[in-house]
Amino acid sequence: MKHIIADLEQRRTKAALGGGQARIEAQHKRGKLTARERIDLLLDHDSFEEFDMFVQHRSTDFGMDKAEKIPGDGVVTGWGTVNGRTVFVYAKDFTVFGGSLSETHAQKIMKIQDMALKNRAPIIGLFDAGGARIQEGVAALGGYAEVFQRNVLASGVIPQISVIMGPCAGGDVYSPAMTDFIFMVRDTSYMFVTGPDVVKTVTNETVTAEELGGASVHTTKSSVADHAYDNDVEALLQMRRLIDFLPSSNRDDVPEWPTFDVADRFDMSLDTLVPDNPNKPYDIRELISKVADESDFFEIQEAHARNIVTGFGRIEGRTVGFVANQPMVLAGVLDSDASRKAARFVRFCDAFNIPIVTFVDVPGFLPGTAQEYGGLIKHGAKLLFAYAEATVPKVTVITRKAFGGAYDVMASKHLRGDFNYAWPSAQIAVMGAKGAVEIIFRADIKDAEKIAARTKEYEDRFLSPFVAAERGYIDEVIMPHATRKRIARALAMLRHKDLENPWKKHDNIPL
Ligand code: HXC
Repeated sequence: MKHIIADLEQRRTKAALGGGQARIEAQHKRGKLTARERIDLLLDHDSFEEFDMFVQHRSTDFGMDKAEKIPGDGVVTGWGTVNGRTVFVYAKDFTVFGGSLSETHAQKIMKIQDMALKNRAPIIGLFDAGGARIQEGVAALGGYAEVFQRNVLASGVIPQISVIMGPCAGGDVYSPAMTDFIFMVRDTSYMFVTGPDVVKTVTNETVTAEELGGASVHTTKSSVADHAYDNDVEALLQMRRLIDFLPSSNRDDVPEWPTFDVADRFDMSLDTLVPDNPNKPYDIRELISKVADESDFFEIQEAHARNIVTGFGRIEGRTVGFVANQPMVLAGVLDSDASRKAARFVRFCDAFNIPIVTFVDVPGFLPGTAQEYGGLIKHGAKLLFAYAEATVPKVTVITRKAFGGAYDVMASKHLRGDFNYAWPSAQIAVMGAKGAVEIIFRADIKDAEKIAARTKEYEDRFLSPFVAAERGYIDEVIMPHATRKRIARALAMLRHKDLENPWKKHDNIPL
């Protein structure tokens, strides 16, 4: 028996070495960890249970019958825990055939996807790979499609997270693209459908991998990625933090963690957060951090469409999704990018039973040909659609402006907002006073005195929360310093909210 056990140990040691010491060293030299080192950092100590460690490729073409068979075949798969909660994980092993996907490699991922779905737990993919195993051809393509199909079936059922920690090209980009979140590592990771060489051939553009699909491109311009981290360690530790915010599946409630932050904490500084001058900005993130438990806020898409802020926090230890117009950027206006960013976040929250807290300070939709030609109507409709279909608890606080269509969109009472509060500084109207008066009193436009009087009249009548409150569109005008307490009480009351949309196969959100 002893020699049998020794043989197992030997096989395990060999498999754990992946593509061998030299390739591991090359990986380290590039500032990257190996697949197994990454998994160790992601999961609780000693919690990883590996599957299919001895799986090998079965291909024989292009000399693969003679090539060394490396156990594991370029991907490490299994499950473990993050702060005691089950997660499934697969990590591409760049030291084995560049992490490329073969038929057997795909089967390992599929097995983990099936288990994650059956057992209703999040799945995290760590990417560092060269795309389809070139020697395998269509078997690899088929493998990708099988993985994609499983991504789609799991969407909205279990959280799916992708972390790009090296090259990610060709077939490898579309699985992450169908997961809920994509994170990248600065300088060592890049994502593109076709690489710089193909780009050069087809479009004659000369571009580096970093310029084409580096972390800065995807977190700012393309919005493909939700955030970037400086290195592997930071990225993996932040994934642990993210997992703590997420329910295990769409049938689970949000996790509840101990908190030392009392629910009825007043923050007097909020009474002066909104400046007297309505055109002066302030940082809406200050409100989020003063409302969330222990100021802990996990921001999503921080670098893209910064005129709206989205992310996770907790109230009384339970996760909430914050969506907030940001007056510091473009005065918090809603444009196409901001609408798409927030719509996707709202839909994630709704799919996973995460209550949504919305802070509103929005001067309207952004006018102009660039926006209209770019499809603002359709993109704005995404956010409207997302809020309107959401059945999770929705608590809205208007801090200052709520103008025009943007008032309707931002989780208004009319879109089944459960608690719609306003601060005394709120201004709820079709538009700002100046614009309104210039339209309805166009005849007096040259008479500055008259216009000033009309503007004052408009401001006094409409630029307050009280016209909306008189109609019941605002449930109550609250003190800014009591915002956390009011939200906490509302969410506690809404804990058993029961609301269903009519049965349908699926909706037809304006894509
Ligand atoms: C097989 C691969 C491979 C691949 C890399 N390797 N990519 N083996 N299939 N796709 C192997 C290399 O031969 C090498 O083996 C090792 O991995 C490391 O690769 P290097 O090139 O030395 O590393 P580096 O210089 O860092 O470059 C990494 C890379 C490059 C940028 C990813 O390897 C590359 O461009 N690979 C090909 C990418 C590609 O075109 N993939 C197909 C995409 S098409 P040794 O033995 O020397 O260590 C696709 C279609 C699917 O994916 C579409 C489905 C929708």
